[in-house]
Amino acid sequence: MVSKLLALEAYPMLRDLDFRILRGVELNMRHHRWVPLEDVARFARVDVETASFRLGKLDDMSLVRRRSDIGYIGYQLTIHGYDVLAIRALAKRGVVEAISTAQIGVGKDADVYVGVTPSGEKVAVKFNRIGGRTASRKAAYHGDVFHDKRHTSWLYVSRLIAKKEYDALVLLSPIARVPRPVAWNRHVVVMEFVEGTELAELRDSDLTTEEAGNVLDRVLEEYLKIVRFGIVHSDMSEFNIVLTNDDILIIDWAQYLTTANPDSYEMLKRDITVLLNAFRRRWRVERKFEEVWPVFEDAWRESRGKRG
Ligand SMILES: Nc1ncnc2c1ncn2[C@@H]1O[C@H](COP(=O)(O)OP(=O)(O)O)[C@@H](O)[C@H]1O
Ligand SMILES: [Mg+2]
Repeated sequence: MVSKLLALEAYPMLRDLDFRILRGVELNMRHHRWVPLEDVARFARVDVETASFRLGKLDDMSLVRRRSDIGYIGYQLTIHGYDVLAIRALAKRGVVEAISTAQIGVGKDADVYVGVTPSGEKVAVKFNRIGGRTASRKAAYHGDVFHDKRHTSWLYVSRLIAKKEYDALVLLSPIARVPRPVAWNRHVVVMEFVEGTELAELRDSDLTTEEAGNVLDRVLEEYLKIVRFGIVHSDMSEFNIVLTNDDILIIDWAQYLTTANPDSYEMLKRDITVLLNAFRRRWRVERKFEEVWPVFEDAWRESRGKRG
């Protein structure tokens, strides 16, 4: 499902005051499920009537949500409001100058758009939708109470995930083929735009068995360096490998584990199994797990030793 970035449509219509109001809702969500109108007004340094009027507009744009059956009038930020705040921060810091409304990637947990930096570099802007998408879908099943409880945490969790992916790219981009990180803010990661095709998008006939074998070797080679370094991807699949003109890149590092975490052992095993199965199923590349695994197992143990 390709979704428009609703925040981009709202963005040009917003004034400084609107951003202050959104920020007021965001900050106070640490203390309230539904932030009292008065608290927003105080933060934005306007009277209650003005705040209420602007919040009404923001509600119409789906950037906030209003509730009045709780004994007072309260507001929550929506994922679109959170998008707006992240875009604003990235624009102010001179990270991105523009974001295209056309979505390039739809993953399991994120929407990815093309952006341009002030110096004209093309970047990928990844909006985490964990919590946002998943929690609102779940809220439909579990009703408002569930949604309320989850509300502060999706802001928090999706932010943690963005930071985690950014950190992984900082660690890995000097040593392996992953996108170069540019910046992060809130639930958004900005990184080098990778020109290429996801393995999952390729038709089986796009690669010969021999070509596919070479691609697999490159992926394993890069992944081995990464495991030696002490990191396990944990969501390795043909959806997270991009084939460029002359090489490969491994993307989507949000759920990595360090090898210090004992769970990373099973994750690594699964990553390798998934990879080998995909190449066998689609391109008849025969690589036996028992032959590939020992090298990775050694690398995993070694890196644990190094890190103590
Ligand atoms: N740096 C990038 N350059 C170009 N396209 C990207 C980049 N990062 C992600 N994408 C595209 O967006 C999709 C989703 O991104 P991904 O990081 O895999 O998130 P998810 O966790 O949602 O799977 C990818 O499958 C890919 O098509
Ligand atoms: Mg992915």
